[in-house]
Amino acid sequence: VGLNVAAQAAQKLYFGTATNADQWTDKTYFDILKDDSEFGQITAANVMKWFDTEPEPSVFNFTDGDVIADFVKATGKRLRGHNCVWYNQLPDWLSNGTFTAPELAFIVERHCFTLVSHYRGQVYSWDVINEPFNDDGTYRVDIFFNTLNTSYIPLALKAARRADPHTKLYINDYNIEGIGAKATALKELVRSLKASGVPIDGVGIQSHLTVGGVPATLQQNMAEFTALGIEVAITELDIRFTALPPTAAGLAQQKADYATVVAACNAVPGCVGVTVWDFTDKYSWVPSTFPGQGAACPWDENYVKKPAYAGITEGF
Ligand code: XIL
Repeated sequence: VGLNVAAQAAQKLYFGTATNADQWTDKTYFDILKDDSEFGQITAANVMKWFDTEPEPSVFNFTDGDVIADFVKATGKRLRGHNCVWYNQLPDWLSNGTFTAPELAFIVERHCFTLVSHYRGQVYSWDVINEPFNDDGTYRVDIFFNTLNTSYIPLALKAARRADPHTKLYINDYNIEGIGAKATALKELVRSLKASGVPIDGVGIQSHLTVGGVPATLQQNMAEFTALGIEVAITELDIRFTALPPTAAGLAQQKADYATVVAACNAVPGCVGVTVWDFTDKYSWVPSTFPGQGAACPWDENYVKKPAYAGITEGF
């Protein structure tokens, strides 16, 4: 059975993937992407980010994002919006600009409201805030925190809620898979947002993992997040080899690791679905970001399914 079929048979909403539209001319790629038995959910890997959607102040561009959204609409899949506020892949005017707190607050609100409004009614869940924490659980000192302290977080969430009352609003981060300082900080944030009536519906657990490195506390950690009254999703799963090429034993471990992650989501009722950060090693972001590492996806670069593929279906 396909990955999305397996997920839905386990009462999850979807199994999904990130994608870039410039890969769609690759027919083999596109045929797998379209297949509803494999993927019931799509995330734009890049084109809904700030640099692409507001390249100049107040000049919005949804051309690239619409290509993804239109594909999702035509195929009847679910769409995850990614993302509203992130320190990375910002337009130059924002990265280099100096803004007062009131100016930046206005800019954040305008961006989130306009972006989420544009896709109103089409997006299952939005990563409104992406990667706000350092690994030690302190806040990342980026342009937003520097200027606005933590106030940009409720500001963005409220703007997103006004823009689309029905989409699920998420905070998304990495290295929060296991129990630890960073996950604790995010739980504290969710608690305080809820206590002050700020809309927050979910936490996205990115899950850019390494083979053999799935945290033993993943399931318990997800259960603790959902106990706060929110849902969770595995939003950017890939499990990379830190040394290449993979051995047969390594591929077996990777299969077990994919199964562990999927089974953890499966065991936690509030975990709604699993998304891989693209499905083939041919287009994975991993080698460019972690030189010398890779082979992180369920399909290899020639579209041969790796043991990891069966790890996913078995994990559900
Ligand atoms: C990555 C994209 O896949 C790359 O193409 C791009 O060059 C950098 O960003 N966490 C996230 C994603 O939230 O937006 C990142 O996507 C991967 C890490």
